[in-house]
Amino acid sequence: MSDTATTAPRLSVLTGHPSPAAAGGMAMRPVRVAEPFTAVVFGATGDLTARKLAPALFRLWRAGFFAAPFAVVGVGRRQKDDAQFRAELRDAARSLAGVEAGAEWDRFGGWVFYHRADFTAADSYQGLAGRLAEVEAGRGNPGNRLYYLATDPDYVPGIVERLSAAGLLGSGAGGPWARVVVEKPFGHDLASALDLDQLLLRHVREDGLFRIDHYLGKETVQNLLAFRFGNGIFEPLFNRRHVDHVQITVAEADGMSGRRGAWYDRAGALRDVAQNHLLQLLALVAMEPPASLGADDVRTEKVKVLRNLVPIRQADVPRRVVRGQYGPAAINGEPGRGYREEEGVAAGSRTETFVAVRAEVDNWRWAGVPFLLRTGKRLPHRVTEVAVEFKRPPTGLFTAPVLGGGLCDRGCDCGATCECCNAGSQPNTLVFRIQPDEGISLSFAAKRPGMQLTLGPVEMAFGYSASFDEPVPEAYERLLLDALRGDPTLFLRSDEVAAAWGFMDPILTAWRDGPPPEFPNYAAGTWGPAEAGRLAGGCRAGWREP
Ligand code: BG6
Repeated sequence: MSDTATTAPRLSVLTGHPSPAAAGGMAMRPVRVAEPFTAVVFGATGDLTARKLAPALFRLWRAGFFAAPFAVVGVGRRQKDDAQFRAELRDAARSLAGVEAGAEWDRFGGWVFYHRADFTAADSYQGLAGRLAEVEAGRGNPGNRLYYLATDPDYVPGIVERLSAAGLLGSGAGGPWARVVVEKPFGHDLASALDLDQLLLRHVREDGLFRIDHYLGKETVQNLLAFRFGNGIFEPLFNRRHVDHVQITVAEADGMSGRRGAWYDRAGALRDVAQNHLLQLLALVAMEPPASLGADDVRTEKVKVLRNLVPIRQADVPRRVVRGQYGPAAINGEPGRGYREEEGVAAGSRTETFVAVRAEVDNWRWAGVPFLLRTGKRLPHRVTEVAVEFKRPPTGLFTAPVLGGGLCDRGCDCGATCECCNAGSQPNTLVFRIQPDEGISLSFAAKRPGMQLTLGPVEMAFGYSASFDEPVPEAYERLLLDALRGDPTLFLRSDEVAAAWGFMDPILTAWRDGPPPEFPNYAAGTWGPAEAGRLAGGCRAGWREP
């Protein structure tokens, strides 16, 4: 083969994944995809393919990660030919993903094909088999395939059943591999997730099933593990003795774009983000050090955390969970639509666009430490962060008591001497900024210059862009590469999905059976319903406004 797929890579070919034989230290193994493969993308004309998958495959190829011949076959229902498909992907990569799609893209495009098929019809799959064989012929690919299901989740079971019936899901040990990547949401509650799992596992082995949560592919999310377990000084502080509470925020400024409203209105913030992204972040912050960085060791520790979440009984939901929906509001002088006015959304929709949960992990390390989780659409800006707030010093050495025991800043009558209002002592907060401005900061108190001994808050900060020359890869690049190499560490295991739904299910049930919410209850462009403040409780805690 003389195409560029086989040219020498321009990258470091080592990664932090341990080899199975690793004994102590971190043995490294190559990060390139060494075998020929075909990525078969169902939902080829959809948004995810255009925005994320095609640009990610292109960048991986361009950086030399594909060390053997490859092909990408898009499967969709619309009529188009290879040339049209390639041109559409190139235009989308330029406009939506900022890819410089020039001559290199055209070379890459030579290995991209389109296959028109109705993937809901069983008889389409023989045609697909023929097309794949034709594409793979002469490329030394014995039939290694990554099926990426970038379709509406409703189509997933049918596609897998039909792939299996057509003999396209691999021939077992020793033969070519077949892996299936399934996008979230994985089910819409615990029962449906278990059903889906059972069905999929009838046709694909667990080690061939890659359940995506794209947050795990984010560089900064992986850095949570690196930070905690790759440094000696912080990990001893990560426990109930030292941590006051943890806040995890996934805030988005956008509302519903394009045709998203119709899908979102059936899902809502809890299913869309809280059950997966927020709980994954929580698991990474709270987990014990894994025995190794191997897939099973890491996921076993995460699942323990999810199983140790204190269950929220239906009766506790009003106390521990707050939901919201944005209403219309002018933002920066521009009129902003309310959720109910968005395209595809029901006029009287009761779907939540905001949810906040007060969670707790009931184990020796974390018992009693609140984990405050929140996510929402149409919040003031897009920011994802994990903030670990440490306990304040036990005495108010630097605090000037309010004479006569009057009200202190926070309206408490302790005279500013209680631990909460001991305002002279700033809490130390460690913030993992997942996006944007990826980095980590630690705030602490320092003496202000001058004759008096007063303190002011200061910060130590690390920023990715200032500290490393390498660009931060997109989550989908990392995840596609791992799926192609057969490494499931950053994908969800079946028991993780079940544990996450197990925690969220009673909330969904309480909402379904309880009185209808009074929506809308927050104005677009604000930090969500005022009621959410109640969850952050206590006299010193409050939600951060990052
Ligand atoms: C997706 C949700 O999983 O994550 C979207 O379905 C959300 O609603 C998105 O906008 C947020 O991802 P990111 O990477 O932009 O933070």
